[in-house]
Amino acid sequence: MNSKQAKVFITRRLPVELAKLEQIAKIEIWEERQPPPEQILLEKARSANGIICLLTDPIDKRLIESATDLKVISQMAVGYDNIDIATATAKMIPVGHTPGVLTDTTADFTWALLMTAARRLLEADRFTRSGLWKTWEPDLLLGASITGATLGIIGFGRIGQAIARRAQGFDMRILYTGKNRSDLHLENTLGVDFVSLERLLEESDFVTIHTPLSRDTYHLLSDRQFELMKPDAILINTARGAVVDPKALYRALSKGQIAGAALDVTEPEPLPSDSPLLTLDNLIITPHIASASRQTREKMANMAIENLIAGLNGDRLPYCVNPEVYH
Ligand code: GLV
Repeated sequence: MNSKQAKVFITRRLPVELAKLEQIAKIEIWEERQPPPEQILLEKARSANGIICLLTDPIDKRLIESATDLKVISQMAVGYDNIDIATATAKMIPVGHTPGVLTDTTADFTWALLMTAARRLLEADRFTRSGLWKTWEPDLLLGASITGATLGIIGFGRIGQAIARRAQGFDMRILYTGKNRSDLHLENTLGVDFVSLERLLEESDFVTIHTPLSRDTYHLLSDRQFELMKPDAILINTARGAVVDPKALYRALSKGQIAGAALDVTEPEPLPSDSPLLTLDNLIITPHIASASRQTREKMANMAIENLIAGLNGDRLPYCVNPEVYH
C-alpha cells in the first residue's frame, strides 16, 4: 500500500507531536474530551487504513469487520480488553499496544494507593481541613502497618513483579497468584511465594490486582472471595474494574468484611454519581490515572505512533498483541 495516501483516525488528542506520522498519512483527530460516539467511531474506522485508539473505544467485531481497509489497530494502553483480538487476527489485522513503558509508573501509583489507604491519608486531610484536629491523641486515625505485613499480588506479569520489588523495600512477606507460576530464579530474586488465590486472600493484609481482564478474570473477586479475606485487609485495584464485582465490594466494605479499598479502575467507568460505592468512607477512587505521569503518557503515545507507522508500512509492529498475523 502506498502509505503516503494512508488515512488515519486518532480517537483523541495525543500529548505528542504528530510530525512523523503526518509525513506519511492524512490524519483525522477526534478533538472532543469525550470518546467518539460508537456510530461515529464505526464510520471513521470504515474509511481508515489505521486507527490509534484508547481503552475507552470499543473496537468490536462489528467495527473490525466493517472496516475493510483497516491495516493496523494501535492502542495507546497496555491493556486491550476493549478490542476484539480474535476478529482482528482472523482479518489479519495486527494490533499494537504499549507494554513496558508504564510498568513502573503504574506500580508507583499502586504503591501510593496502598499507602494512602493503609495510613488513611485522605480521611486525615478531610479531618484536618474540617477543623476537627484539637490535639495529639493516642488512637487518632489509626491505620495499618505496611512494613512487615503480608502482600498478595494477583497477576504476576510486568506490573505485578514491579510491585514485588517495591514490597521488598518494606520487608513484606509477598504472596502471588496467577495463571502460571514464575520461574524459581525470579521467585527467589523477588522473595515471593506462589499460592492459590484462596490462600492469598486468606493470608494477605493487602491484596493488589494486576491481571488483565478476560473471561477468566471477570468478577474474579466477588462475595465468596471477600468472605475469605481478613477483616483488616485492604484491596487495591489498578488493573481493570470488572475484575472486581462492584456490588460484592460494596457489601464487603459496608459491613466491615474488609477494612478498605483503593480503586483506580471501576465497573463501569466512570461510576454513576448515584453509585453506592461513592458513599463509603473506607474507599478511595481515582479516575484511571495509574500510568498518568507526563513522561509515561508521552512514551505511550510515541509507542502507539511507532506501531501505527509500522502497520501502515506493512512492517511488523514492534509491540504486537497478535503476532499470529505474521505466521
Ligand atoms: C491502562 O489502563 C492501560 O492498560 O494502559
